[in-house]
Amino acid sequence: MGSGSTVGFFIRELGLIRDRVRGAVSSSERSSALLREQGIAVYALDEIESIPVYVDGADEVDARLCMIKGGGGALTREKIVAQAARSFVCIVDASKQVPVLGAFPLPVEVIAMAAAPLRRQFAALGGDARLRDGFTSDNGHPILDVHGLHIADPVALEAEINQWPGVVTVGLFARRPADVLLLADPSGVRTVRR
Ligand code: A5P
Repeated sequence: MGSGSTVGFFIRELGLIRDRVRGAVSSSERSSALLREQGIAVYALDEIESIPVYVDGADEVDARLCMIKGGGGALTREKIVAQAARSFVCIVDASKQVPVLGAFPLPVEVIAMAAAPLRRQFAALGGDARLRDGFTSDNGHPILDVHGLHIADPVALEAEINQWPGVVTVGLFARRPADVLLLADPSGVRTVRR
């Protein structure tokens, strides 16, 4: 299970069919609490053998189902659980669909002592990396929100940023994009497959 307000709605709906749900691995303290409230068991990754499906929202999604995630700050655990799942289902409303990623500031969880040099590295790429005020992740790290990027090649940019010392997780989900997108607009929900 992912995190965020869209996932919050999904968890409440899941509660209605809790008898058919064996349990969930959660990507945030908030989602774990919501799952338990709905009577759904929460497991650690090392307690389970496989995850058939991962469901999460996104801050932006492009036509290849690459995403920016981490607006809620849960990107590291989200990426870990998503990577462990066989299938990734992304649930968003139409406002999240974009031709090119980057209008939403790219969240990057970092080791605190690396924040200043990383800000300079992003500046060299044309990005304005701002420390998220008064926020630390569930893992105890700060987050940089990088404004002003036009992400033409999200797979390459994710690979590049992943190599920078001090980066814990970049909120680009492109090397492992979603497999299925459930896209809601006022006329209903459209299913897009990769
Ligand atoms: C949480 O860290 C995010 O990755 C969320 O999936 C993303 O911010 C979408 O959240 P909303 O559903 O609240 O828009």
